[in-house]
Amino acid sequence: MTAQTKLYEGKAKIIYPTDNPEILLAVFKDDATAFNAQKRGSIQNKGTVNNIISSKIFQQLEARGVKTHFIESPAPNQMRIKAVKILPLEVVVRNIAAGSLCQQTGLPLGTVLKMPLVEFYYKNDQLGDPLLTRDRILLMELATPEQVDSIIHLALQINEFLKEFFQGCGITLVDFKLEFGLDSQQQLLLADEISPDTCRLWDVSAGDDPNRRVLDKDRFRRDLGNVEDAYQEVLRRVLEAVEKG
Ligand code: TMP
Ligand code: ASP
Repeated sequence: MTAQTKLYEGKAKIIYPTDNPEILLAVFKDDATAFNAQKRGSIQNKGTVNNIISSKIFQQLEARGVKTHFIESPAPNQMRIKAVKILPLEVVVRNIAAGSLCQQTGLPLGTVLKMPLVEFYYKNDQLGDPLLTRDRILLMELATPEQVDSIIHLALQINEFLKEFFQGCGITLVDFKLEFGLDSQQQLLLADEISPDTCRLWDVSAGDDPNRRVLDKDRFRRDLGNVEDAYQEVLRRVLEAVEKG
């Protein structure tokens, strides 16, 4: 495997082809970016931590009937995945107000939402990933009405599992981002990753302390320090929870 064989390089992963056109290899990087790559850095062992956490979560979801792109993890920072065409949508599910929801609505940080909020953002760096409406998705033909409905249903199902799973780790799931893709049969699969890069995770034992509780990429985004420790702590708790069953 050489640099020349790269199929695609994103901010957090490099995708390589394999001998089988239906299968790709995702290599998770330690590189970290925020604010549409205006802030750049590196988080030691992030590639390994995010791959292991994502792989474990995808396996748990598969066991509950959610179809994902995960096949296996051949190395600590690598995932063999089913080849999919990624829909250019970032699907965000929120349980508690944080981040752009607070900035755009004025809701105070930490407001518990009466019901989960599912949002769509246009995966387009040039446009700064703007918030979409269902009608805009259909207008731009980013997905079909049936796909939008399935995505909302799956996102809520995934949220129910993840909330409970992280609760068992002593972690409150504030919000997270999902991506979906279509395989060669046009089947909708959960893709990308589920990790401290793509979730907001608050340590229950830290109470309301707005900085100490953060166990996710907000430590990097907001220069809170101890970024690596937070990622390692999430990994430790996830592995413990998976082992306990
Ligand atoms: P937001 O509050 O900044 O819109 O982020 C919502 C969730 O989505 C949060 O868990 C972080 C995650 N996220 C990503 O995974 N990638 C991104 O590019 C952004 C902006 C957010
Ligand atoms: N995807 C964002 C970036 O462009 C990172 C983030 O805020 O999660 O750098």
